[in-house]
Parts: sequence; C-alpha cells; structure tokens
Amino acid sequence: MPKLQERQLDQIADQLAEQDYAIIDNFLSAEEIDAVLNVFDIHKKDGKFKRAAIGDSDNKTVDQSVRKDLIKWIENDNAKSPTQVFLNRIDAVKDFLNRTCFLGIKEYETHFTIYPPGAFYKKHLDQFNKSGHRKISFICYLNVNWQPEDGGELRMFLPDGILDIAPTAGRLVCFRSDVVEHEVLVCHANRYSLTGWMLDQYIDLSFL
Ligand code: OGA
Ligand code: MN
Repeated sequence: MPKLQERQLDQIADQLAEQDYAIIDNFLSAEEIDAVLNVFDIHKKDGKFKRAAIGDSDNKTVDQSVRKDLIKWIENDNAKSPTQVFLNRIDAVKDFLNRTCFLGIKEYETHFTIYPPGAFYKKHLDQFNKSGHRKISFICYLNVNWQPEDGGELRMFLPDGILDIAPTAGRLVCFRSDVVEHEVLVCHANRYSLTGWMLDQYIDLSFL
C-alpha cells in the first residue's frame, strides 16, 4: 500500500493553518478508489445505505428539503480492507495535525456517502450547536471521470467569497468544522464519497 507522502501531509497542515481549508489530489490511487467503490456496491446490495439525518444524536430528523444523500457509517474496527486503507491514511493525517497544529484530535467518525441524481445538501456548518466536538471535516471523492454537467460541487462560503470544488476521484478536502459554511450543489449523476469528522473526544458508537 503506497504511503501518504510527507509533502501531502505538509500541504494539508499548511493550507488548514492559512485558510481554514485544504484541497489535495491523489489522496487515494485509481486502484484504491476502484476497490472502495466495490465496497460501496457490497453495502448497497446488502441494503446498508440509509437516508441521512440532520442534528445531533438527541435531535435527529430526516429532512429531505435540507439533504438528500444516503449514508452508511463505517465501523472503524470492522472495516473491509479497502476501507481500512483509507482509514489508515486518515489516521496519518490525524497524527500529523496533532503533532504540528496541536489540535488534540482523539478520534474520527466516517461514513460512505451516495448522492443520487437530484440530491443536494443545503448550506450548513458541520459543528452542531450543542456538541462542538467536530473539529475538522474531511471528504474524499470517488467520482471517476466526473464532468461539469454531473454537478454536485462542494460550495464553500469563505471570507473572500464562494469557492466551488469539483468532487473528482481521489481528491481530499478538509476544513474547519466550526467556521466553514458549505453546501453540496444538486447532483446530476451518482456522487460517491467518504465523509468524516475528526473529533476532540472519543465517540459513543451506541447510535449505530
Ligand atoms: C456533509 C457535507 C460535503 C460534500 O456531509 O456534511 O457537507 O462535499 N458534505 O460531500
Ligand atoms: Mn457538511
């Protein structure tokens, strides 16, 4: 398994420190993306994808006027090997950010995500009002041959204005969960990603 390059780790930490977000390509290789997409297919066939909810664990609702994606939470200790490759790499990012940016990240929670055609996620912040434990959001896109007409860009609302990011295969986007407002524009083709958050406390898996 090719390791994450030191240069990529530096880029993530530097960009996050400078601008509260980071974008790096080739976080996963073409072969790794293919293997993860096979895992998506297995979970899809097994009926594991559910409509995503909004709100924290005390206050959860499925509101399809806000978001229309389908998700399956990843159990870190029970992940299939292509998923584990991704988690190991996120682990390296977590350790690096803790060493260089003193973020105090303890854990991360991650889900597989599918936006079917017509799906979107309206403008929001990832840190919930009551529980501020999400520190860094990360999304790795898996859309091979993504075309502009497929839509589904990640739109970030930054101090300098709007930035639209194409969800192309192998790209990793990270941002501060407490400050970067964002939305997912309407998709016109299936949009696949791995989506997660680095947390400053250990997770309670009882909600799974
Ligand atoms: C989210 C989210 C962005 C994306 O799941 O909270 O904002 O590009 N995802 O998938
Ligand atoms: Mn979000």
